[in-house]
Amino acid sequence: MIVVLVSGRGSNLQALIEAGVPVSAVISNRADAGGLAIAAARGIPTRVVEHRRHATREDFDAALAAEIEHFAPRLVALAGFMRVLTPAFVARYGERLFNIHPSLLPAFPGLHTHERALAAGVKVHGCTVHFVTAQLDHGPIVLQAAVPVRGGDDAPALAARVLEQEHVIYPRAVRWFLEGRLVLGNGVVHVKGNDAQLVLAAG
Ligand code: GRF
Repeated sequence: MIVVLVSGRGSNLQALIEAGVPVSAVISNRADAGGLAIAAARGIPTRVVEHRRHATREDFDAALAAEIEHFAPRLVALAGFMRVLTPAFVARYGERLFNIHPSLLPAFPGLHTHERALAAGVKVHGCTVHFVTAQLDHGPIVLQAAVPVRGGDDAPALAARVLEQEHVIYPRAVRWFLEGRLVLGNGVVHVKGNDAQLVLAAG
């Protein structure tokens, strides 16, 4: 039902699988992505589409889409997928393309979010599941988890507490999508049944 795209470790993929989300396939742009091994160990089909073998982003995205289409997914979920997707790819999948990002968007798009949150002195940090648009780490917000920043936090400690919440919110958001409960209007997502779109992690 869903195809997950990974580039690395794959802990969000694992959380999705363990939550019982039906994952049809896992595709990576890197043959050494830990997420591929997680999927293979559970008998989930895996594919590698190496970006290095494609001359342009357009070529890579076309090859990626061709692999995705073999599985005819209802949803494509980016889970630590470290490639910027082309507008054509986003236009094709946009209303069924999710990403998880380790900050409370629209704050801190891009990399090194935990270091940047600490440097900015924010007192609340967190993570976001959002629909993907052509703008990096931007798009209608499905679900967020807020994580208090503690006085003694360094980036690894904060990252670990945020990651724990990523593993809570990603499966929940995907389930909402698959249940047909997400309504998108004017760039804002509503959940039929009014489930809370914010998780408050304990301090
Ligand atoms: C997560 O922090 C996710 O939010 C970000 O990349 C990281 C991927 O981690 N987009 P993992 O591969 O799911 O463990």
